[in-house]
Amino acid sequence: MQLWTEKYKPRRCEDMVGQKKAILETTIFLDNWKPGRGLMFHGSPGVGKTLLAEIVAKERDWALVQINASDSRSGKELEALLGQSSLQKTLFHKGKIILIDEADGISGRERGAETGIINVLKKSKFPIIIVANDPWHPKLRNLRGYCEMVKFNSIPYPSIAKRLHDIAEKEGVKAEGETLKNLARWASGDIRSAILDLQLLLAGKDSVTEKDLESLGFRERQRAMFDILPTIFFSGSINASRKVIREVDKDPDEVFWWLESNLVKVYKSADSLASGYDLLSKADLFRSIVLKQQNWRFKAYMIDMMSGISLFKDERHGFVPFRPPDRFLMLGRTKHKRAMTKSLCRKLGEHLHCPARVAKMEYIPLMKLMLKKGTGIADGFDLSAEEIEAIRKY
Ligand SMILES: Nc1ncnc2c1ncn2[C@@H]1O[C@H](COP(=O)(O)OP(=O)(O)O)[C@@H](O)[C@H]1O
Ligand SMILES: [Mg+2]
Repeated sequence: MQLWTEKYKPRRCEDMVGQKKAILETTIFLDNWKPGRGLMFHGSPGVGKTLLAEIVAKERDWALVQINASDSRSGKELEALLGQSSLQKTLFHKGKIILIDEADGISGRERGAETGIINVLKKSKFPIIIVANDPWHPKLRNLRGYCEMVKFNSIPYPSIAKRLHDIAEKEGVKAEGETLKNLARWASGDIRSAILDLQLLLAGKDSVTEKDLESLGFRERQRAMFDILPTIFFSGSINASRKVIREVDKDPDEVFWWLESNLVKVYKSADSLASGYDLLSKADLFRSIVLKQQNWRFKAYMIDMMSGISLFKDERHGFVPFRPPDRFLMLGRTKHKRAMTKSLCRKLGEHLHCPARVAKMEYIPLMKLMLKKGTGIADGFDLSAEEIEAIRKY
């Protein structure tokens, strides 16, 4: 059986879904490549990182030498593996790309691996592409200095849905209603898993329905929330609400954001709405105490405040179409930025001999002020332009 990710694998850049910017940046880099510089592809899984490396090699009729960094144990091994081929021409191709995939999978204790890659990169006669899911990982910090960074975006669900639709059409299978759209949503930006899910659902069948999605655990998270929200909003019982919030397999934080985004849908009268938000604001206060002091005791208070919402009666208006909080989408979008801040704080912490948390709370605001006053920050921190920009905007 051939996997559909192979069968429907794009052969040319134009066939790829999205990633226009990454494609452009990669092309420019390869056209102007000079020894000593590498390219670092980063982004979540299943968005086309390995794929683009394969395509650009093929389009140029270059050989692709591919190694998986997480498979090899040491920097020496990496150097041995790549040393030869990074220097020698190939017989059958005009050029060569060396692809070091899953670079952040390099084993935790092995610091030598990064050095190994850097050594190869410095000497290589061919462009090297390094792929990492999390490029801000401290293991890759020095390597980043040798690389142009190319970010791969998660693929928007309508684009995934469209590709699923094309595949379904080519396979001559039918999909009921919103099935493909929901499948695409479920993949949260990962087109590989969406395509594989579709193949899985269709195994031995010629149509797929919404109901089939349940076998993937689809909507589990939503269903849990859809079960408890009516209790909180309509039961009129604090006790019942408290119980469902405690028992649901979700963090109270998540419940909080669901309540926050759905409150306006439930309450129409200004009074109920105001009271509801008032309670939520109190719950939020406890939420921030939990976060700041890492004091979990206050979770109980937070839950109490949220449960209180059940006391507000509003004229009932039948079915309420609850929906997931926008915040979850937003968190996805700011993931890169948060990872970057985390890595920055760790780096500063090492220089300043303090925990990353302290660097974040005490030093970054100070550095921001220094930047504002034009004092500049000490060179000793060897911050990249992007990191300095992050402090400026902090
Ligand atoms: N942007 C894309 N457009 C079309 N198909 C894609 C795209 N990204 C991934 N795929 C599909 O998913 C498979 C795996 O993608 P891959 O490049 O390995 O993802 P990763 O970003 O994890 O390296 C590809 O072979 C292809 O079938
Ligand atoms: Mg990959």
